Amino acid sequence: MMDTGSLSLAGRAALVTGGGGGIGRAIALCLAAHGADVAVMDIVPERCTETAARIEAYGRNALGIPANAMEAEACAGAVSVAAAAFGKLDILVNNAGGVTRRDFAALTEKNWRRHIDLNLVSNLAATSAAIPHMIAGGSGGAIINVTSIEASRAAPGYAVYAACKAGINNLTRTLGVELADHGIRVNAIAPDFTRTPGTSGNVTGPVDEASWHQPSPAQAEAIRRRIPAGRPGIDAECGHLAVFLASGMASYITGAIVPVDGGTWASGGWVRSSEGTWILPPEA
Ligand SMILES: NC(=O)c1ccc[n+]([C@@H]2O[C@H](COP(=O)([O-])OP(=O)(O)OC[C@H]3O[C@@H](n4cnc5c(N)ncnc54)[C@H](O)[C@@H]3O)[C@@H](O)[C@H]2O)c1
Repeated sequence: MMDTGSLSLAGRAALVTGGGGGIGRAIALCLAAHGADVAVMDIVPERCTETAARIEAYGRNALGIPANAMEAEACAGAVSVAAAAFGKLDILVNNAGGVTRRDFAALTEKNWRRHIDLNLVSNLAATSAAIPHMIAGGSGGAIINVTSIEASRAAPGYAVYAACKAGINNLTRTLGVELADHGIRVNAIAPDFTRTPGTSGNVTGPVDEASWHQPSPAQAEAIRRRIPAGRPGIDAECGHLAVFLASGMASYITGAIVPVDGGTWASGGWVRSSEGTWILPPEA
């Protein structure tokens, strides 16, 4: 019989950084819904608690780890705590990240170091700590990095963020090769604009969709014209890809950067006119 594959993550143990809100939370919940035990590291303690309770509602073991991903020691500590609690670590999702918009020339060293700590150092620290656990487990592993479309194009106002995400793209490819002999696959999810607490004005409180800013009609129209799918991404759409990449269905996939962007990367600058036809600005 042909192997038709399975998305089941039963018996797998995962850690998601920045997993208490937005894309990370959606990934954590999707992994749990498909059978994984999941540890959630987040800087907002009540987000850890809320997401852990939802993971348990799927009948899985959960762990909330309130900690700051900008601190390399905290990332390594979260990996150790998760591996000790579950007895192993099969899946690491490096999701923690974020950005403040400002031109590079206006950034201080403190500003840009902070961006690097959040978007790149956190990834290096958690990955470095997770690899020995995955190797010791003897059954490979899956590392999933949340990058961005901004890694693959100029991103005015987001220079350091874009540089970090581009770094993550090539880290993904390089570690995909370096870790292949251990059966550890390394892949990345590259979203475009996705509605999350962070992109909806709720960066600190508990995750409560009712408190998010709603896009204005002008913003909704701009998104419709720029993103071929005609709408923002939904956090669960990254969760669905994470389940696939973590599962045996993706057993031959490593070093891949997969867009979850409604077609933005493919569109390469083409946008819809107000009438709905595709144009390349400044074409009217
Ligand atoms: N939302 C988008 O449009 C979008 C697009 C492309 C890429 N991304 C990437 O997706 C990832 C998640 O983005 P999001 O929009 O879901 O963000 P978000 O701000 O909505 O959620 C991020 C979560 O991480 C937590 N967090 C923030 N700083 C932390 C820290 N220092 N330590 C630990 N936890 C921390 C937050 O409390 C929150 O729960 C990021 O890596 C981001 O760069 C997002």
